[in-house]
Amino acid sequence: MALELDEDYGLGTRAVRAGQQRTGEGEQSEPIFTTSSFVFPSAAAAAARFSGAEPGNIYSRFTNPTVQTFERRLAALEGAERCVGTASGMAAILAVCMATLKHGDHVVCAHGVFGNTAVLFTQQLARFGVECSFVPLTDLAAWRGALRPNTRMLFVETPANPLGAIADIAGLAEIAHGAGCLLVVDNTVCTACLQQPLKHGADMVVVSATKYIDGQGRCVGGAVLGSEALVGKDVLGVMRTAGMSMSPFNAWVFLKGLETLHVRMRAHSTSALELAQWLREQSAIKAVYYAGFPDHPQRALYECQQEGGGGLVAFELRGGREDAWRFIDAVRLISITANLGDAKTTITHPATTTHGRLTPQARIDAGISDGLVRIAVGLEDARDLCKDLQRGFAAL
Ligand SMILES: Cc1ncc(COP(=O)(O)O)c(C=O)c1O
Repeated sequence: MALELDEDYGLGTRAVRAGQQRTGEGEQSEPIFTTSSFVFPSAAAAAARFSGAEPGNIYSRFTNPTVQTFERRLAALEGAERCVGTASGMAAILAVCMATLKHGDHVVCAHGVFGNTAVLFTQQLARFGVECSFVPLTDLAAWRGALRPNTRMLFVETPANPLGAIADIAGLAEIAHGAGCLLVVDNTVCTACLQQPLKHGADMVVVSATKYIDGQGRCVGGAVLGSEALVGKDVLGVMRTAGMSMSPFNAWVFLKGLETLHVRMRAHSTSALELAQWLREQSAIKAVYYAGFPDHPQRALYECQQEGGGGLVAFELRGGREDAWRFIDAVRLISITANLGDAKTTITHPATTTHGRLTPQARIDAGISDGLVRIAVGLEDARDLCKDLQRGFAAL
């Protein structure tokens, strides 16, 4: 039997223990089941599994014990009935869309979601007859105003990457449910350790496990979380047929990542706040954005939804793209890469990387200016990161 730990157990205990199902070998660490298929004791047993009359594994595109252990553990952290692991964060979003949308449906999405998510809605899903409107993340009246009779989904990332604006999850859930829609929240930036959107009324959570859940920049993966009916039936149905499955090896890496996630998210948040406050003192900077600033304009919302600011800090340089690139090229310790959630701090220029495929107008709407630089603060000493960023300021 898998170890079920309800919310009477602390988050740390669930992160380390939940979902484990020891084999007869008595292993301490969870095994990796590197097998594509599973063997049945008889033809009749095979038929019973395939027909669904008997539960159990058939083929690793459908289910795999290592992936299931990861799914149970993440579900225990998010407070979800069910979790389905996917090949990437984008596969998680696509699986949700394929499971819930059809030709003629309409989605309302926040400006400034991850660039590929916006492209998925505006280009790929548009080819299948799904329309999408974009609204400012924090403007509930705009969300309400964008609803149409055929709206089926509200999609949001909070806090926004990279500007740290915070969406009112409960407010959006009320709007969605009043209109018979689903609210889907991308929880990649906070993870379940800092925020649990389902508790505030979201219907489904998607996450890129590639980021903080891995925590060391090794594997690509994702997950969808929600009710048994939506996720265990509809999303799993799409995932196992379309084949956006998580590999057992990646699931094992993510499972190990979950064991330290609560400690790491606290450390990312502490360093990010220290760095963001230091950046505010630098004269070359026009503005610093961090969801965890004590004077953040949405602090009340933060306190009701989040237990930490996370690791993303962004700042705007006065000199536009030229200054931003010069600044980035001058750092020596921090890695120039668009990934986030790594123990190693990363730096990127959103306008030409993560949000580079958006139209210029969509970038303006999302607040992604040419002078914006994003740092995903890792686990190095904040003092050393400041020293490295000094090289950037010296180069301007
Ligand atoms: C907020 C957010 N959601 C989803 C994704 C997509 O995840 P993946 O790269 O694992 O497909 C990313 C990737 O950067 C992201 O930042």
